Amino acid sequence: MPSYKAPTVPSSEITPRDLFYARRKFMQMGAGATLAALMPPALWAGEKLSGVKKSVYNVPEELTPYKNVTTYNNFYEFGTSKEDPANHAGTLKTRPWSISIEGEVSKPKVFDIETLLKMAPLEERVYRLRCVEAWSMVVPWLGFSLTELIKQVEPTSKAKYVEFISLKDNEQMPGQNSAVLEWPYREGLRMDEAMHPLTLLTFGLYGELLPNQNGAPVRIVVPWKYGFKSAKSIVTIRFTEQQPVSSWMQAGPGEYGFYSNVNPDVDHARWSQAKERRLGEFLRRNTLMFNGYTDEVAHLYTGMDLKQYF
Ligand code: MTE
Repeated sequence: MPSYKAPTVPSSEITPRDLFYARRKFMQMGAGATLAALMPPALWAGEKLSGVKKSVYNVPEELTPYKNVTTYNNFYEFGTSKEDPANHAGTLKTRPWSISIEGEVSKPKVFDIETLLKMAPLEERVYRLRCVEAWSMVVPWLGFSLTELIKQVEPTSKAKYVEFISLKDNEQMPGQNSAVLEWPYREGLRMDEAMHPLTLLTFGLYGELLPNQNGAPVRIVVPWKYGFKSAKSIVTIRFTEQQPVSSWMQAGPGEYGFYSNVNPDVDHARWSQAKERRLGEFLRRNTLMFNGYTDEVAHLYTGMDLKQYF
């Protein structure tokens, strides 16, 4: 991946966090109908995600402005520069959409997106997401723990890993005409990682359905791992006995391992991971082990050499 380039979003275009929440509070008070006409359309998509409850899993940090979160993206299906997804992901059709759950499960099933959205109560969770390119952000994601879906399909005793496969359609995703990665985009987790309550099946951010460039209509967010583990626009979830080979492992086996835990002590082959830049900020901050989620996830890796299993 190319190295970090500072985003160039004028501060005048950023929806300040307080304004975002003030708007939402106002709508919750029942004034939504009048306000609807005044609101930018993207935020109104959030109206569909009603009944969202606050989660216990929130980091007490300043949110990264909506504008940065939605205009500085990696989504190689739409190009390799940070502006490409926001500029080109309009061609992605997110309805109808379904996810096929297959492999080592007793009850394989295809769920359409509307059914998925109603499977469990949606929560808002403020998570950090850190990219392997050493930038990071703090986002109010909307979704529920992936385990809610996993328990519906009853994995067999052979299910040791979970593979996530994104859409392959080079008409909707013109970046797939380039061989920069092998398509479709594929990622994987070990079963216990996938079943960890922090692993979020994600449908929205900042109160609205996911914008296309952030992985609409459904993606994974795994907050203690580098961002590329958080596959976007998923169409297949496959339970496997063997460790899956992800698109990034295939593209650069010496640079991208299966585990990909955020770890300031393990450099990327071409750059240090000791520091990171929060989108919208100027000074770099220290990278936190497991992206700050050590208390929640360190036990998953007891006894593993995380330099070997990077
Ligand atoms: N998923 C797909 N299908 N294609 C991608 O190129 N990029 C990954 C990940 N998921 C990617 C993907 C990378 S490198 C990052 S850092 C995150 O998405 C970025 O998520 P964001 O756009 O919400 O910040």
